[in-house]
Amino acid sequence: MTELLQIKAITKRFGGLVAVNDVSFDVREQEILSVIGPNGAGKSTLFKLICSFLNPTSGEVLFRGERISGLAPHVVARKGVVRTFQETTIFKSMTVRDNVITAHHLRSSATLAGFYLGTQAARRDEQEFGRSADEILDVLGLGGQRNEIASTLPHGHLRALGIAIGLATNPSILLLDEPFAGMNHDETVKAVQMVRGVRERGVTVLLVEHDMRAVMDISDRIVVLNFGQKIAEGVPKEIQENDKVIEAYLGVEDETIGY
Ligand SMILES: Nc1ncnc2c1ncn2[C@@H]1O[C@H](COP(=O)(O)OP(=O)(O)OP(=O)(O)O)[C@@H](O)[C@H]1O
Ligand SMILES: [Mg+2]
Repeated sequence: MTELLQIKAITKRFGGLVAVNDVSFDVREQEILSVIGPNGAGKSTLFKLICSFLNPTSGEVLFRGERISGLAPHVVARKGVVRTFQETTIFKSMTVRDNVITAHHLRSSATLAGFYLGTQAARRDEQEFGRSADEILDVLGLGGQRNEIASTLPHGHLRALGIAIGLATNPSILLLDEPFAGMNHDETVKAVQMVRGVRERGVTVLLVEHDMRAVMDISDRIVVLNFGQKIAEGVPKEIQENDKVIEAYLGVEDETIGY
């Protein structure tokens, strides 16, 4: 398997606090890799470093062998390293389908102005984007909601729409930070299916998640952070049996590694 992403000795300091401390690991093409760890372990900071929303204090991230650290986040997104969009970036007054169509313009060959002026390229894009949007919505189980106004969607569907918007930008790797947070069991089961669907489209998935059952179920490999440092890396079974990991999770009431 090829390494899509290489995280090399990355460190991020906030003043005196070392949020991410000399972390290295690779992400392979088309795998689902989860990053877990107790609250404050540095998971979200690591994601921000990978997407270049933050600059590392030291170390670097390579995407397909090319350094992406230090590039503007939108440049990194265009290269195919995409973080899912927060609910706040969803256009609440637009339909589900139009939200996903609009997101396609991030990778459009026609300009946004062209889209509105109806140039030939824009018309071609529009048709293609419509088809692609429908396909993505079906993969994510949102086909039945395509014509609903986003503001009327329940929480779980909004989350799925955020992922749909991310997918519409045609990423090579999609980073999902706690996509199952606040979901009940049934919603989580559906969302896990959804993430599998994303991978089946050929997209590599990097996941931060506290729901251990979901993590163990879905991940090919897991990286464990504690106090900013990587303490373990391996397949789910190895992680569940790892003494350092068990110790890191001891005494943490709502996060149990075993189930
Ligand atoms: N912009 C910032 N400025 C200062 N400190 C920060 C900043 N962002 C994060 N931190 C600190 O860095 C540490 C790691 O935070 P981070 O959000 O990455 O943890 P996390 O693993 O995502 O936690 P959680 O599971 O609670 O989401 C925490 O101590 C946090 O308070
Ligand atoms: Mg976090």
